[in-house]
Amino acid sequence: MNANTLRSIDVALGQRSYPVWIGSGLLREHGRWRAMLRGRHALVVSNSTVAPLYLPRIEAGLDGLQWSTFLLDDGEAHKNFANVGRALEALGRLGATRDACVVALGGGVVGDLAGFSAACWMRGIDFIQMPTTLLAMVDSSVGGKTGVNLPVGKNLAGAFHQPRAVIADIDALTTLPDREYRAGLAEVVKGAAIGDEAFFAWLEQHADALAARDSEAVIEAIARKVRYKAGVVARDETEQGERALLNLGHTFGHALETAGHYRSLLHGEGVAIGMLLAAQLSERLGMSGPADSRRLRRLLQALGLPVAIPPGMDAAPLLELMRLDKKNSAGQLRLILWRGVGRAEIVGGVGETAVLATLTAAIAGA
Ligand code: NAD
Ligand code: GLY
Repeated sequence: MNANTLRSIDVALGQRSYPVWIGSGLLREHGRWRAMLRGRHALVVSNSTVAPLYLPRIEAGLDGLQWSTFLLDDGEAHKNFANVGRALEALGRLGATRDACVVALGGGVVGDLAGFSAACWMRGIDFIQMPTTLLAMVDSSVGGKTGVNLPVGKNLAGAFHQPRAVIADIDALTTLPDREYRAGLAEVVKGAAIGDEAFFAWLEQHADALAARDSEAVIEAIARKVRYKAGVVARDETEQGERALLNLGHTFGHALETAGHYRSLLHGEGVAIGMLLAAQLSERLGMSGPADSRRLRRLLQALGLPVAIPPGMDAAPLLELMRLDKKNSAGQLRLILWRGVGRAEIVGGVGETAVLATLTAAIAGA
């Protein structure tokens, strides 16, 4: 590939630092990532949709290793403990030793489960992320949050376990359905909205190119978002403070996703609507102005993302779902709000009346 289009961003974590490579053709550039596999064994974790498309691109790179695959059925429902058990059994059958490596080839579901399996096998072995969705490239593959869902809630079992490298080959996006692609763009907007106004302005200028999947714009957007997230992770790896900002829009978004039984909205779509609600709540609390909310709404719409609460959802049940959020403490709502584009803040003790009024106004289309 043209070296000029390759981006390499370091997640700086001392001896556990790792590169995120972003570019075209990277899955086939075996020499680049093969050097990251230290031992004799590799388990490729993927799913029934992604493996037929992209496993052939990496197979030759695994020559000389003892390797096998563990394939999930497609879907969030399969990010569960039973499949972690099966992945660990696959590592056992492979005879994987402590220097073995798990290769996660897929979206966030595959990456989260593969990373958690790597964290569990012999108390932690290497893993490499090969994200194939935009969401995974700009968010889930970077930062070391791994885990699975439990019947009582999403992402409730997990570990911080950083990968050895992230290989984001944008060629994989050519087969990604439009809706999934746009959901990934929401996570790009999120980074800019939280802490990088210049990036937000760049997104405004390049919204058409991004909506049309122009490669140069896509690589630049991924790189900017990853650079922003890498900085946050380097400063606060285990979310003692600043990293919580990355949840802008998530408390509203999770409530919307849950109210839709995880069928009506993709995660990124919930985040898009949730970010706008967070902006509108900030406005109601006097933290930001209407121009900030308008700017966010316009960008989300230009990228083809939803901005309205889906029909049939009511304010009170949504508030009830928000009360269950992991970030709350001592029975008080703790939300990520903003003082305008690029200036997000963690705000504790948010009054439920203002939240309810924000939801009610949004449902009424005000
Ligand atoms: P996903 O992994 O379910 O992928 C979305 C869909 O796209 C799936 O049907 C998948 O099979 C398909 N797909 C993947 N790559 C493809 C390709 N190149 N071509 C065609 N189809 C392809 O969903 P996602 O949006 O990538 O990730 C969502 C998951 O990520 C959730 O479980 C969420 O909790 C998790 N997540 C984790 C973090 C983190 O920090 N660890 C952050 C955000 C989200
Ligand atoms: N996706 C939020 C985080 O990585 O912290």
